[in-house]
Amino acid sequence: MFCPGLPLARKRLRAVETRVQSHAEVKFQDIRLYLVEKKMGSSRRNFLTHLARSKGFCVEDVLSNEVTHVVSEDHQASALWAWLKGRGLKDPLKTQVLDISWFTDSMGAGKPVAVESRHLILDTLPILQDSTPTPVTVSQYACQRRTTLENHNKIFTDAFEVLAENYEFNEIAGQCLAFRRAASVLKSLPWVVERLRAVQDMPWLGDHTQGVIKEILQCGRAFEVEKILSDERYQTLKLFTSVFGVGPKTAEKWYRRGLRSFTDVLAEPSIHLNRMQQSGFLHHGDISMAVSKAEAQALGNIIEEVARAITPAGRLTLTGGFSRGKEFGHDVDFILTTPELGMEEPLLLAVIDRLKQQGILLFCDYHASSFDMGKLPCHRFEAMDHFAKGFLILRLEGSQVEGQELQRAEGDNRGWRAVRVDLVSPPMDRYAFAVLGWTGSRQFERDLRKFARVERKMLLDNHMLYDKTKKQFLEANDEKDIFAHLGLEYTEPWQRNA
Ligand code: CTP
Ligand code: MN
Ligand code: MN
Repeated sequence: MFCPGLPLARKRLRAVETRVQSHAEVKFQDIRLYLVEKKMGSSRRNFLTHLARSKGFCVEDVLSNEVTHVVSEDHQASALWAWLKGRGLKDPLKTQVLDISWFTDSMGAGKPVAVESRHLILDTLPILQDSTPTPVTVSQYACQRRTTLENHNKIFTDAFEVLAENYEFNEIAGQCLAFRRAASVLKSLPWVVERLRAVQDMPWLGDHTQGVIKEILQCGRAFEVEKILSDERYQTLKLFTSVFGVGPKTAEKWYRRGLRSFTDVLAEPSIHLNRMQQSGFLHHGDISMAVSKAEAQALGNIIEEVARAITPAGRLTLTGGFSRGKEFGHDVDFILTTPELGMEEPLLLAVIDRLKQQGILLFCDYHASSFDMGKLPCHRFEAMDHFAKGFLILRLEGSQVEGQELQRAEGDNRGWRAVRVDLVSPPMDRYAFAVLGWTGSRQFERDLRKFARVERKMLLDNHMLYDKTKKQFLEANDEKDIFAHLGLEYTEPWQRNA
């Protein structure tokens, strides 16, 4: 029994008060914070504890295995870790050790914000007794992960890609996406998955994907994948869809008619190939060969020169896979624009016309602009944006490529090759959104849009960013502005290979 008159007892009462936090006040049941007093000091720690509790956060006074987020102002990772370890945390992988900036951001937002790399003090844990280096968090969104071209888990991601593709051929979109997501998560890991335990708590790695990983870990391959690879239907659909202009639907139609090879298709009198497919077959050998970076640069020089001859203000940007640092691509993607609003489409048409006059335009599928700011925001996602664009096949001479031979099949001495080129012309005030959309990767874009919609109540596409709460468009001069509007850490193109 305490006596209210005594200071000591009052102190004890206060301690009890701060520890007890009723369930009703806790808005975020899944997380438990612990603030490290070192560097922070006890009065600031008390203040921050009250602040967090007033906003519905559960703050523990004592560090225990219940704690999910440790927040510290002490940035000396090794000392901090030694201290935490001394406290006997059983499973350090379950606890995030975060900088105070995460706390401040969360207080500002009134809810726990997604953990970004800038929030991490201990982003990798060299300290684990167990040798599996696991990053503290893997976000469910590719736009919050860093994914370079260095894929440490190719053996798994290649298998997932086969499964995804097979689901795509069978029109099972959900499963297809599930395997693409799982592959994307594994691509972001800066280490090799060596045991199942390492991926067990990761987003998008469910029972099916884990089963495949387990089999590959045990036998070096997965039965389900082997079966697909040797399946005639899969092989045929894969062959047919390798032709420019042939999608899964057409490939399936041909397969159902009993066709199994290009010769079968070309010899079948009842099949009418459209213009794109005719070019696709004509240049199949060249187009199915990867385009090198040197070849992409050579094409950039050619198109830039043509554009500059039309208007000195013309601006050409290499985008797509090459802007993410890829050495090879299936095509070359460029954005062509000019500061003069409304002149971008005439410029694109003039460029295409010059390429034709020069005899290097082997094919062009032109899409006139249907862009209308008045029709935005568009609430459903459309596969193709509204900017003027051309899906081209260009002739590239070996002499135009610097310091390197053309990519070509053995015994091919033509001295030139055909290359697929995408050329898109957004108005300059839409440039940032177009660059962001065309830089890719597809998975990165998909998750950027989803993140905007779900986490920020915003709509993002290749044309605009729209805030549904404020009912206003958010303008941007460059990609950094868009990331900032989204409250996302800027991710360099070479880190977007999700
Ligand atoms: N893209 C788009 N609209 C299209 C076609 C493509 O917005 N009609 C975007 C895609 O989101 C993709 C990017 O352009 O992220 C590049 O597409 P693509 O050339 O197909 O892929 P790359 O990432 O460049 O890969 P590759 O090197 O194989 O060409
Ligand atoms: Mn590309
Ligand atoms: Mn492309």
